[in-house]
Amino acid sequence: MYYVRDIHKTFGGNHVLKGVSLDIEAHKTTVLIGPSGSGKTTLLRCINLLELPDSGTVHLNGAELNFGGGKAPKYAGGEARALRMKTGMVFQNFQLFPHKTVLGNIIEGPVSVLKRDRDQAVAEAEALLQKVGLADKRDAWPRDLSGGQQQRVAIARALAMKPELLLFDEPTSALDPELEYEVLSIIRRLCEEKQTIVIITHKISFAQEVADKLVFFDEGRILRQGPWDEVNDGSVPRIAQFLNMLR
Ligand SMILES: Nc1ncnc2c1ncn2[C@@H]1O[C@H](COP(=O)(O)OP(=O)(O)OP(=O)(O)O)[C@@H](O)[C@H]1O
Ligand SMILES: [Mg+2]
Repeated sequence: MYYVRDIHKTFGGNHVLKGVSLDIEAHKTTVLIGPSGSGKTTLLRCINLLELPDSGTVHLNGAELNFGGGKAPKYAGGEARALRMKTGMVFQNFQLFPHKTVLGNIIEGPVSVLKRDRDQAVAEAEALLQKVGLADKRDAWPRDLSGGQQQRVAIARALAMKPELLLFDEPTSALDPELEYEVLSIIRRLCEEKQTIVIITHKISFAQEVADKLVFFDEGRILRQGPWDEVNDGSVPRIAQFLNMLR
């Protein structure tokens, strides 16, 4: 089971997450949508502990941290590490290591963090590059790749850690439309392979296609969640308006 309960997060005086509770079903795709600034990215960053919630619970398949209650959990503690190891994140702007080759980017985590045998890590990285259609870019530098290629490397890098939960934060919003397609194709395949996925996207047609569950965020709260047709049944003007605007 994967879930967060009653997550609050404040930046300065800005109460960004106002008690967010979300179940993330294993082997399903959960799509987060909602207006800019509503807290979607902050929630993803709280799930993988890139941000620490002020209060609430993060539970990922047996690993759990409770925040607040006067007792700050240690960020680098064993439970935090266990939680972080379960997630892989793909960012809007790729965030590849610029001084490492494509292969170097992918094997960094397995070798340095998981202490995997280097040859084994290289073999797995090569298989992942094949999967994202970039076998020929193994020794290239990130700066020599297109945005779409960089993002595909970033996906391979996330997969190399064998995360239980894959988090995507607007993975195609920095890409030109023609490069978007190649990245969406790979994410679509991961959804079909029944990975456990949470994705923030403004690509409404793609969202509708892959979403097992749609979660609509507004002003730091989940306004509605459920199957696509249920959330988008026209009964909440805010949601209908937002979805129509993006079409
Ligand atoms: N590290 C931070 N420090 C201060 N404020 C932050 C930080 N991260 C996010 N915020 C603020 O929190 C609010 C929610 O931001 P967040 O990035 O989670 O929204 P979002 O729903 O992902 O928006 P978008 O669709 O534009 O990506 C915004 O007001 C933002 O300015
Ligand atoms: Mg965001």
